[in-house]
Amino acid sequence: MFKPAITGSGVFTPDQIITNDELVVAFNAYADRFNAENAAAIAAGEVEAKPHSSSEFIVSASGIEQRYVMDKTGVLDPEVMHPWLPERSNEEPGIMTEMAMEACGTALAQAGRRADDVDLVICAASNHERPYPAIAIEIQKYLGAGGFAFDMNVACSSATFGIQAAADMIRSGSVRCAIVVSPEICSGHLEWRDRDCHFIFGDVCTAVVMERAEDARGGHFIVHSTRCATQFSNNIRNNNGYLRRTRKGHMQDRRDMLFVQEGRKVFKEVLPLVSAHIAAHMEDAGIGADQLRRLWLHQANKTMNDFIGRKVMGRVPEPHEQPNILQDYANTSSAGSIIAFSKFSDDLEPGDKGFICSFGAGYSVGSVLVERA
Ligand code: COA
Repeated sequence: MFKPAITGSGVFTPDQIITNDELVVAFNAYADRFNAENAAAIAAGEVEAKPHSSSEFIVSASGIEQRYVMDKTGVLDPEVMHPWLPERSNEEPGIMTEMAMEACGTALAQAGRRADDVDLVICAASNHERPYPAIAIEIQKYLGAGGFAFDMNVACSSATFGIQAAADMIRSGSVRCAIVVSPEICSGHLEWRDRDCHFIFGDVCTAVVMERAEDARGGHFIVHSTRCATQFSNNIRNNNGYLRRTRKGHMQDRRDMLFVQEGRKVFKEVLPLVSAHIAAHMEDAGIGADQLRRLWLHQANKTMNDFIGRKVMGRVPEPHEQPNILQDYANTSSAGSIIAFSKFSDDLEPGDKGFICSFGAGYSVGSVLVERA
């Protein structure tokens, strides 16, 4: 058995930003238009008027201040309210592959590796641009990696579950150098016309390189153990699957064909699940809160992270112990905890331990116990 390690990480950040104020102006213009167009039905009580959104609510309910997106023009056009991402020909790289190149390039450079050292690519994300051929295989081709590649989807926990899959293969010796890459185009499955959730997501791509610890060429993190858990829930759901065209009324603009959540229920149910999950992982690993230097948590909601941080540490963690990036990136699904890890891990000293932890739709929870070598 070999010891797996994370030897590099990278983040691709889109160059377009939407601030809360910009988002709210666009949403309110859309709502005003909707209300004017439906004035008679609203007056007759047949249609509900759309209330305004507010930047103050967004910051206080979530901690989110802005988000990066692949296209802001469509999202901010009250007549469109979704990103415009032109379709690519079969001969061009897909948009997920394009996002993956920079994140993988940065992660490989940090690991001191070339793409042809890689013998496994896992594209672990909440949505994939098409069912097949796998996006991971396209990424493998454009990187120039060898071995094999596959896609996987565990929604917000895709990256940590991908890390577990890669770690297990490295441990057993079936692969030697893996990339787990998470291109998350959350703007594509968000209903920007829904006030309750229009602010929550952003786009990004992260990548981690994983190898045998003995092969590491620079500073790295030993992966001591991973722990994945799932428990079925409809509270975060998207019904847009490949059987859609086989159903009557499939051309209708149906709300359930995009991200839908019961935010309050998610909040209430996921918090105890995650706290108990990390506590059990710590017990199995035989480590106490006083031995933890950092928590790189899923980035959906600041209050949620503060709660989990307090539960795990048994006290209020210092900001550097539980870094948040959601104020800048919003919720980027599975990539969130990896952005935090990538941006806030260089300062750790050999022997310092921490958890990367994701949680979300499924429900799913994934935790990775790492130690700076
Ligand atoms: N602007 C202004 N007011 C808004 C609003 C907006 N954009 N969106 C909702 N409101 C209103 C609601 O209508 C409600 O009003 P009411 O009390 O008169 O009914 C009030 O604000 C509270 O709404 P609620 O939905 O209960 O807010 P919340 O405090 O639960 O925050 C979330 C909403 C989504 C930020 C929060 O529930 C959350 O983060 N949940 C977990 C989400 C999560 O982790 N999901 C995983 C996704 S992968």
